[in-house]
Amino acid sequence: MPKTINEIVQKKQKQKITVVTSYDYTMATLCDQVDILLVGDSAGMVMLGYDNTSPVTMDQMCMFTEGVSNGRKNALIVADLPNKSYDNESDAVSNSQRLIDAGADAVKLEGRLPEIVKAIIKAGIPVMGHLGLLPQTAKKYSVQGKTEDDAQVLLEDSKALEDAGCFTIVYEMVASETMKKITESVSVPTIGIGCGKYCDGQVLVIHDMLGLYDKINPKFVKRYLSLSDTIRKAVSEYVNDVENQVFPADEHSYHMETQT
Ligand code: KIV
Repeated sequence: MPKTINEIVQKKQKQKITVVTSYDYTMATLCDQVDILLVGDSAGMVMLGYDNTSPVTMDQMCMFTEGVSNGRKNALIVADLPNKSYDNESDAVSNSQRLIDAGADAVKLEGRLPEIVKAIIKAGIPVMGHLGLLPQTAKKYSVQGKTEDDAQVLLEDSKALEDAGCFTIVYEMVASETMKKITESVSVPTIGIGCGKYCDGQVLVIHDMLGLYDKINPKFVKRYLSLSDTIRKAVSEYVNDVENQVFPADEHSYHMETQT
């Protein structure tokens, strides 16, 4: 049985919550030991080659979510509502339902939008919030919550999302000291990306942590593998083998039945 929202929420202050992004069946089967597989709209960048997440559509998010859903056995699936898909309560609810129908257990949206969050929850769909850097609308990528005033705004935004009923909140690129204060002040688990250690959980984009996407290399990413190098090397060996007729060898070939 996949993890439940309740099991994940109960981990606050007991054990860290683990989250990675996932956008397809194969990666979901490989990453399923985490608590949450996040079908992030970062898919627009790492899967579709866009410069940012703004152009991602509902149809695309539904397709990525279906692939992840077909591969998971253990993790909870949270899918991102893409840019412009939750501009009003009615769109937010119908688009959230589309992601649930595609296999998500919950949805995530960016910003302090308590009324939208409440409308989705009223329709029976759990919501994860997202504060700090908001890639769908950000003009530039910069660290948030660096001054006392900004930290106070972030804390108030967090409380508004907590009161609206979000079961967790993702924070992106927030100063570590601000994050400590927020994590201690809200009852919902905080999940950080680029926010330091004072969060209840961590999320990374899977292509970043595996070294598969080398267009950007943010300071907050820990690269556990360098898969892009490994893949380029393997493909170059394959090209060499085919061109030099080393592949396919006899063991890769089928033969006619021998006559007796
Ligand atoms: O889309 C995404 O991958 C995300 C993470 C950065 C949290 O929202």
